[in-house]
Amino acid sequence: MNSGEDKTGKTLAELGVSRPEEVSSLFAEIRQRFDEESSAPRDESTWKEFRDAWLGRKSGVLTRITDNWLKPATAELKRAVGAALNELRAHVETKIEERRAAIEAGTESAAMARERVDLSLPGVIRPIGSHHLIRQVFQEIEDIFFSIGFSVVEGPEIETPYYNFEALNIPEFHPVRDDMDTFYLELPKGAPEPLLLRTHTSPMQIRTMEKRQPPVRVIVPGKVYRRDNPDATHSFIFHQVEGLAVDTDITFCDFTGTIEYFVKQFFGPGVKTRFRPSYFPFTEPSVEFDASCPFCGGTGVSNGGTCSKCKGAAWIELFGAGMVDPAVYGFVNYDAKKVSGFAFGIGIDRLAMLKYGIDDIQVFFQNDARFLRQFP
Ligand code: PHE
Repeated sequence: MNSGEDKTGKTLAELGVSRPEEVSSLFAEIRQRFDEESSAPRDESTWKEFRDAWLGRKSGVLTRITDNWLKPATAELKRAVGAALNELRAHVETKIEERRAAIEAGTESAAMARERVDLSLPGVIRPIGSHHLIRQVFQEIEDIFFSIGFSVVEGPEIETPYYNFEALNIPEFHPVRDDMDTFYLELPKGAPEPLLLRTHTSPMQIRTMEKRQPPVRVIVPGKVYRRDNPDATHSFIFHQVEGLAVDTDITFCDFTGTIEYFVKQFFGPGVKTRFRPSYFPFTEPSVEFDASCPFCGGTGVSNGGTCSKCKGAAWIELFGAGMVDPAVYGFVNYDAKKVSGFAFGIGIDRLAMLKYGIDDIQVFFQNDARFLRQFP
């Protein structure tokens, strides 16, 4: 509103109005201005401004007309001004109320349009994932050991040298540390002890025996880390299932029988097992288990040629194992004279590759959906 040409700031006398006809043309002018302005407000806040400009008690247009035109008007003009003012007020109030209703209806219908759900549109199709092959093989192995009384325990991937080495009878300068002394964590100065990424699941043998008394029958699925250069059969991260059984009467026979049962369940009833002497500081005696090649029936020959899986050897190396070394019992306060047991450490990636014909370990870690989809 341009107050420069706003006549409501002046009295009728100042405007030189002295006849009733002039009063009505003055009001017509105001009403026209109102009508022009009244379509401008589009939302609640501009509507409020508009309402206050016209109806505001202190300085709205109608108040100014009352104060400047009506109150000081001469006796002969007062009637005309009063009547015109009433008419104008009624008009202004009606229009302003109409405007409010229109704005409210507009925002409502806009909101309704925004929120309307079109039930005929196609739904969002979310692809359903599946367990990673490694997870599936973990489950297969767990089920086999569940069936003969083992239970699952899990442990930390960040370990102390004590659990990863010392308590497993691997003292600081023992040569077997060479291929395992690998990923250490950078710790703040003054940290009480070094920390490393476990290189095998065997630390859980110790943690379990510290907590439980025999009989102990557990398997430990999990991730392990070594500084291996990546190639088709090596990765700096891979998976193991540790096994540990300790009781007062466990023999080497129980040991080989358990492994044989597992291998037959996993690869099929026709597969034979054998073991060869090996060495681990925490088992004595230590062995390496082999399975007769499940792909050529243990003949080394497949489709008239050399079996590509066992390279003609007829046997496939599976994993390391052994009877728990009595020295280990010393670290967990078991009485080595009363208890005996066996342990094994199965490399899962290797087993999964064998069973499912995968020739590159790296595919397990690449998250390529084309690979993952083959194992729904
Ligand atoms: N921890 C050994 C490794 O990772 C495997 C193993 C486990 C051997 C248990 C014997 C007993 O190589």
